Amino acid sequence: MERSFKGKTILITAGPTYEPIDPVRFIGNHSSGKMGFSIAEAFAALGAEVYLVAGPTNQQTNTSTIKVIPVTTADEMYAAALQFADKADVIVYAAAVADYKPKVVADQKIKKAGNELTIELVKNVDIAATLGKQKKPGQFSVGFALETNNEAANAAEKLQKKNLDMIVLNSLRDEGAGFKHDTNKITVIEKGKTTAFDLKQKTEVAQDIVNLVWERLHG
Ligand code: CTP
Repeated sequence: MERSFKGKTILITAGPTYEPIDPVRFIGNHSSGKMGFSIAEAFAALGAEVYLVAGPTNQQTNTSTIKVIPVTTADEMYAAALQFADKADVIVYAAAVADYKPKVVADQKIKKAGNELTIELVKNVDIAATLGKQKKPGQFSVGFALETNNEAANAAEKLQKKNLDMIVLNSLRDEGAGFKHDTNKITVIEKGKTTAFDLKQKTEVAQDIVNLVWERLHG
């Protein structure tokens, strides 16, 4: 059977989120958005229509069937993803969402004063877990996890907690994997099944993930 996602709608979150502290500062992370954009290209290459909700990133696409929805904060990312979640056949949560945001965003630039500054943080919405609660029958969802220890057990727990069908695990222990590299080494965890892949270019890793999703939907 020919691999195709023609007629299918894919929702992908990608990149970091920036959580403002004041008009000039934010809390962010080093996510480049590369993995999410590569996954979008891989789905589009197989005929899918892709909605790519992306946090601040330098990544770009010229592919007409990928609609990029740029966002900044986790709240904005959630609101944008929610708009497309219902019609998505597959959702991939590749974003590195900030877990916490400043409780208060200062209207004016915070001036330097004293030797210590405490910023109170509150939990952000968990996009994957929240959309996981309203998952449509037949909808397939993929999450990412970056772990430093107890990788497999933590990933298995997230699979269940976020109602995901698949978790792509990157281990920081693997040389060449993660945020700042063009390569990645992944292990895909499903209920009762683990598949390990070699270190590869992120574009190839994206194809492996998309192929595996296709197999699960058609195999
Ligand atoms: N995720 C999300 N919204 C959040 C946090 C995470 O959608 N607020 C998604 C990520 O896109 C990823 C998966 O959940 O697909 C796991 O993210 P991770 O940061 O590893 O998990 P957390 O639940 O934040 O757990 P922890 O940081 O404690 O390991």
